[in-house]
Amino acid sequence: MVTVREALQNASTGHLELGHFNVSDLSGFHAVVHVGRRLNLPLMIGVSEGEREYIGVKEIALLVKMARDEYGVSLYLNADHTHSLEKAKAAAEAGFDEVIFDLSRKPFEENIRETKQAVEILKSIRPGLIVEGEVGYIGSSSEIVESVPAESLKLTTPEEAAQFVAETKVDVLAPAVGNMHGLLPSMVRGETHKRLDIERVRQIKQATGAFLTLHGGSGTADGDFVAAIQAGLTIVHINTELRVAWRRGLEDSLKTHAHDVTPYKILPGAENAMEDVVARRLALFNSNGRG
Ligand code: G3H
Ligand code: ZN
Repeated sequence: MVTVREALQNASTGHLELGHFNVSDLSGFHAVVHVGRRLNLPLMIGVSEGEREYIGVKEIALLVKMARDEYGVSLYLNADHTHSLEKAKAAAEAGFDEVIFDLSRKPFEENIRETKQAVEILKSIRPGLIVEGEVGYIGSSSEIVESVPAESLKLTTPEEAAQFVAETKVDVLAPAVGNMHGLLPSMVRGETHKRLDIERVRQIKQATGAFLTLHGGSGTADGDFVAAIQAGLTIVHINTELRVAWRRGLEDSLKTHAHDVTPYKILPGAENAMEDVVARRLALFNSNGRG
């Protein structure tokens, strides 16, 4: 398996885009690994602070290592949306491939100062670690939300993106380019979609030269994903779509097994529903002659 940095380079030079899928438990982990094996594509597992508190920092690191060693899956592990240095260090020490140090809610200068310091400390723990920073707040919930967070309407400019990357030395930048975390009810019903500012993605890529991540991928129009990947995105995050699939899959399975109490008969319903989402999104990210 190539290193995470090589995988990012492969993605940015037009091959094998990195789909990033959040998991909370073993069902989510299985869903991602099954698709990675079946499609033979590299992919990332992300665990936010809440998700890794539930699944366990060391537990998920061991599971990912096992999947690489036993199944040969090109699987990378990301400490998603980490807000404290203490938790970022714990992830680096546990062997995560990437840490997202997320101070996007703080004022710009403070974000730069503290992220720069975090990059130095985290790289001293593991030089090969990839560190991502964020400029522009896009909401924080991978949930069904009633409205678009007002702050997410303020998009990242190429100038502030360039300044942030140059001063902090992050490897990866997460900008606000029309994306937001979570899904509106109309998006869950498939009636509306998130739309991305493709030209801004292109300009930020040119201005920074950094790898770029799209957060808040759930519910984005398919064509915008493809265009934004061509414009310079390297990693695409999907979470709420998986959570919606998990709940629907579980509810359907509970109905089908109305009198069952056996977890391993009921839970595959949720797992299969998440697998469909991962497979569909990963195939789209690697479509259009790429990979
Ligand atoms: O870091 C997680 C992602 O940005 C997920 O966003 O829940 O809108 O797919 P999403
Ligand atoms: Zn995110």
